[in-house]
Amino acid sequence: MDLGIRGKNAIICASSRGLGKACALSLAINGVNVVLNGRDEKVLNNTKNEILDATPNVKVNAVACDVSTQEGRNMLMEACPSPDILVNNNGGPPFRDFRELDRDSIIEGVDMNMITPIELVKSVIDGMIEKNFGRIVNITSVSVKRPVVGLDLSSGARAGLTAFLAGVSRSIADKNITINNILPGFFDTDRLRQGVTSMAKMNSESENVVADRMANSIPSKRFGTPHEFGETCAYLCSVQAGYITGQNILLDGGLFDSSF
Ligand SMILES: NC(=O)c1ccc[n+]([C@@H]2O[C@H](COP(=O)([O-])OP(=O)(O)OC[C@H]3O[C@@H](n4cnc5c(N)ncnc54)[C@H](OP(=O)(O)O)[C@@H]3O)[C@@H](O)[C@H]2O)c1
Repeated sequence: MDLGIRGKNAIICASSRGLGKACALSLAINGVNVVLNGRDEKVLNNTKNEILDATPNVKVNAVACDVSTQEGRNMLMEACPSPDILVNNNGGPPFRDFRELDRDSIIEGVDMNMITPIELVKSVIDGMIEKNFGRIVNITSVSVKRPVVGLDLSSGARAGLTAFLAGVSRSIADKNITINNILPGFFDTDRLRQGVTSMAKMNSESENVVADRMANSIPSKRFGTPHEFGETCAYLCSVQAGYITGQNILLDGGLFDSSF
């Protein structure tokens, strides 16, 4: 399917690895010029080369910065002042008992997973209104709908972002701009593998045992692949998806147990 977005320009935050990288690759394969981002310059440049090799006809720019800082966000906007597509992504706060979270760490978590994407939406929205085209995708988490004890800060901040943008998405829907959230369950990325390693150490089990148990808890009996995630993101950015807005798209292999 031609997604109708060839030649468009996208900023994909936190995209040197994992789900963000998969979104960037799928967009580039569909002809979108992409601005990649990550803090580790070496990893970021390797990803840039990988995407360039796979998609020689698009422009691939890489901005090494921390997207949680205003300076970092300014660098991204300088690299792509009027994006047609914005994919909001960032690291997430680590697993922690909520009692251990002091005021500063709570504010830091809200800054990463709620304020940062809102600031970027504010920066890009007027340019999208002028062009009468915009696609914004936020990577949140299944934990917005299904509590994960220990990820309370991440869940709370992402739920805050979801509620904040629910109204915003309706306010600009008539400008051919959509804002949607993708909620990953368990995807096979570095982040998931780090969680498996820590859990294996904690329980004195092998990583394979922990990973198998996690995968078996999912109705589809496997982790999601970054490619599946990236392709969904690219579709939400397509011309054809112009009537999907303000939605929370669960990609979780059936993990969230609900009829609706
Ligand atoms: N994988 C899953 O199953 C899953 C499930 C639910 C939610 N999520 C959420 O989805 C998001 C992506 O997860 P993932 O699995 O793709 O993680 P990942 O494999 O660890 O990749 C994270 C990416 O974000 C970049 N990054 C992290 N913090 C950054 C910052 N402050 N500024 C710029 N770039 C930053 C990393 O590069 P650098 O480290 O070099 O900066 C890397 O490219 C996270 O928020 C995660 O909590 C993932």
